[in-house]
Amino acid sequence: MRGTFALSLLTLALGAQAVISKSKLVTYVDVLALDNAFSPVEAAYWTGYPHHRRTPFSVSPDGKSAYLAYLDSSGTDVHVQPVNPKTFKATGTSVTVTGGKEAGGLVAQNDGFAILVNEAMPSGTANAPADNTPVPALYRYTNGKQTWKTWLGGPGVHDSEGRAASPDMNGDLVYSAKAGLYGAYFVVTDYSGDASGHFGDSIEYVTEDGTLKTIDGATSSWGCSHNTGIAFEAADAAPFASICAEDQGAIWLNTKTQGMTNDGVKISNENTTNGGGGEAMGGMSGSYSALARFAETSRYVFAWVSRGAVDVTANEWMGDGYTNVQNRTNGRNVAWSLFSDKYTKVGAQATSKVGTEDGDSQVNWITSGDNDCSNAHAATFGPVNGLITWEEISNPTCDFIAMGCRGDFAGTHFQQVNKNGEKVGVSFKSDNVYVAGDMVTYDAGLSTTKICWPYVSMDWDLSEAVAYGGSTTTTKKISFACLSR
Ligand SMILES: *[C@@H]1O[C@H](CO)[C@@H](O)[C@H](O)[C@H]1NC(C)=O
Ligand SMILES: *[C@@H]1O[C@H](CO)[C@@H](O)[C@H](O)[C@H]1NC(C)=O
Repeated sequence: MRGTFALSLLTLALGAQAVISKSKLVTYVDVLALDNAFSPVEAAYWTGYPHHRRTPFSVSPDGKSAYLAYLDSSGTDVHVQPVNPKTFKATGTSVTVTGGKEAGGLVAQNDGFAILVNEAMPSGTANAPADNTPVPALYRYTNGKQTWKTWLGGPGVHDSEGRAASPDMNGDLVYSAKAGLYGAYFVVTDYSGDASGHFGDSIEYVTEDGTLKTIDGATSSWGCSHNTGIAFEAADAAPFASICAEDQGAIWLNTKTQGMTNDGVKISNENTTNGGGGEAMGGMSGSYSALARFAETSRYVFAWVSRGAVDVTANEWMGDGYTNVQNRTNGRNVAWSLFSDKYTKVGAQATSKVGTEDGDSQVNWITSGDNDCSNAHAATFGPVNGLITWEEISNPTCDFIAMGCRGDFAGTHFQQVNKNGEKVGVSFKSDNVYVAGDMVTYDAGLSTTKICWPYVSMDWDLSEAVAYGGSTTTTKKISFACLSR
């Protein structure tokens, strides 16, 4: 007895120091059988380079159920598959959101789930967007049956500011039990009003009974310009913690502003062009698990990829106080930032001083090599420790300014970090595990916490663009990986 007690004390003491390693990465290859085929490779905006098509994943608050959402390989219908959260095997037949064009975020509840999709409005809908352009919608299912559906764009949603559609569902859905709210942050294009024809983003809140709620200082009909990078995480009250990578030169913590005005917190200067900002939060099919909250605290951790910034000049188009920068590097490196609460960055903001040579002196880098890094994500183990992961390619060719690169896949990398802004231990890599869906924390608060996520077990070739017309690869099997410390 005494021996056992002493051992468990020792384990607890060591628990505080525990560090991730390759031996603690456990995989469940091809474990989840899908009812329908899934196409795991998506061609990115502008470059056509391969991205992992996101499969949203979520575990219920009581830990007893889990769900994985995926787009049918036909490109229409989003399926939600119940998953055993421990074995990752299918536990029942999937539910289909008919007409869904992308699975844009998933929240598991003890009695079902909520899912963010985009879909064409029913024909004959007055003031619907032209050409069946999909509109964002939030669904709630309880015990396998639809309980409500709420449009987050289209007619009836901020009509006077401009009606919104989402041709691509790039964004995320989060939920706060304390606030009793679902929050969704997603890319839109307006089809009426001042911003008609332009791309931007929108933040919408929905109550637990499915009512779209306009909250002053939290809801936003139009925020950051042509945004291919969103990070969003729940808070105990609206506004939830939000970040955007806009196409004018910066990444903003915009919890307070919901937009890209310079009274927000400037996390980073980024070289931008043609709507791109270096795919900072993953670009097409990204924008999930980039911002995570340390359990039982107000602190958040954020990871992104950046080419760095030199030569800060005035952004004449935006006006006083806004800047442009040149990129420091060819490939992108992984950067990270901490927030002491949803409004406050730890350490200096990025400079807006015209004439500054080093526009990235505030950045904390995780990597610093010549490889190009992409698909960065952040998750937390509990109150103290976090995990940052990314992919690398060697010998990168970066044909397009402010977009992704192509090259030889050089592994998925994992680095533990902590709430004090320190790297813990050294990173390790895997050549056959990827991150292609939400990173979920299991048992937050215990010393044995782990983080699990879905991916498709396949060869991962990042050396060339997806063939014209799109990838023909399909699968009916999803794999999972878990990393403990
Ligand atoms: C981004 O960097 C490129 C060089 O790679 C430069 O030509 C371009 O002007 C920069 N963009 C902005 C908005 O300054
Ligand atoms: C800047 O980035 C572009 C790709 O966005 C790349 O082609 C160019 O070589 C980079 N410039 C420098 C100085 O590394």
